[in-house]
Amino acid sequence: MQDERLMSAQLVAGDEAEVSVRPQRLDDYIGQQRVKENLGIFISASRERGSSMDHVLLSGPPGLGKTTLATIIANEMGKTIRKTSGPAIERPGDLAAILSNLEAGEVLFIDEIHRLNRSVEEIMYPAMEDFTIDIIIGKGPAARTLCLDLPPFTLIGATTRPGLLSSPLRDRFGINQRLDFYEEEDLTQIIIRSASILGLKVEKTGAQEIARRSRGTPRVANRLLRRVSDYALVKGDGSISCDIASLALGKLEIDQYGLDNVDRMILQAIIAKFGGGPVGLETLAAAVSEENDTITDVYEPYLLKLGFIQKTPRGRIATEHAYRHLGYKVPGSRLKAPGLFE
Ligand code: ADE
Repeated sequence: MQDERLMSAQLVAGDEAEVSVRPQRLDDYIGQQRVKENLGIFISASRERGSSMDHVLLSGPPGLGKTTLATIIANEMGKTIRKTSGPAIERPGDLAAILSNLEAGEVLFIDEIHRLNRSVEEIMYPAMEDFTIDIIIGKGPAARTLCLDLPPFTLIGATTRPGLLSSPLRDRFGINQRLDFYEEEDLTQIIIRSASILGLKVEKTGAQEIARRSRGTPRVANRLLRRVSDYALVKGDGSISCDIASLALGKLEIDQYGLDNVDRMILQAIIAKFGGGPVGLETLAAAVSEENDTITDVYEPYLLKLGFIQKTPRGRIATEHAYRHLGYKVPGSRLKAPGLFE
């Protein structure tokens, strides 16, 4: 499983270059046209009104640019961004401290906001709605509630699992935007842009080859760009051509759909161990030695998009495309699934 890290859409050690190429302004952001247009309008409107922007919920699979967009929103508003994450805020007091230190108009970014615990979430409701927090001082019968005013701020929440947000929290975001996997052309442009920032030579066909195998995810595309550039340096003249990209990605065991060993193990397990499914999440995760959340957040969305698996109320099933892709005979009972192949 040497490539697990390579195709992971999560940010991992060694991704500093990926962070350094992230666009800082909306104009430099490639792809997600609908989200980009919407945010552009909301940013301009808030600036014209001279008020802080409404709270924003950004959802979608990892690696698609939720943190980047949050930073861009803060930059465009000319305000500082404070970053934290749902699991990092353990107690209501932690959130109260963060909120009471914000300055007017600042952006608070909470990654994995679906992992905020209930008691912290409850502090969030009045903070989002009226810019106030209720702090409980003391214990037992002597406890008093103190209501503090906060400066207006913009909360930007990011989540891979919008369905896990409680509805009171979800309802308090005035802006709710979902990011989807990138088109190949957009990823090609992102790779060309990153290569230029990093001083790497890439031919358009080389960028296209990397884009095709980057599972619709800029973070993966930028990581593969650097690995392919290593091959180009050692095996070629340093320039990333289509042939070098194809050779390198083959050596890294990333197939023509961008699937890596773990994706293939998942499909293989469903087909060979569980008769094509349906198989439940926990059973599948145990069979491939992965966390449940990694399967649902990282691997499944792309396999679903390609039409290699389907989710049914009884579990995941492999489609005929998965059987064909892994070289298995398709059983008569497998229905044709919608997806890439239609
Ligand atoms: N780098 C990572 N994501 C990007 C995007 N959407 N546009 C430009 N560069 C990027």
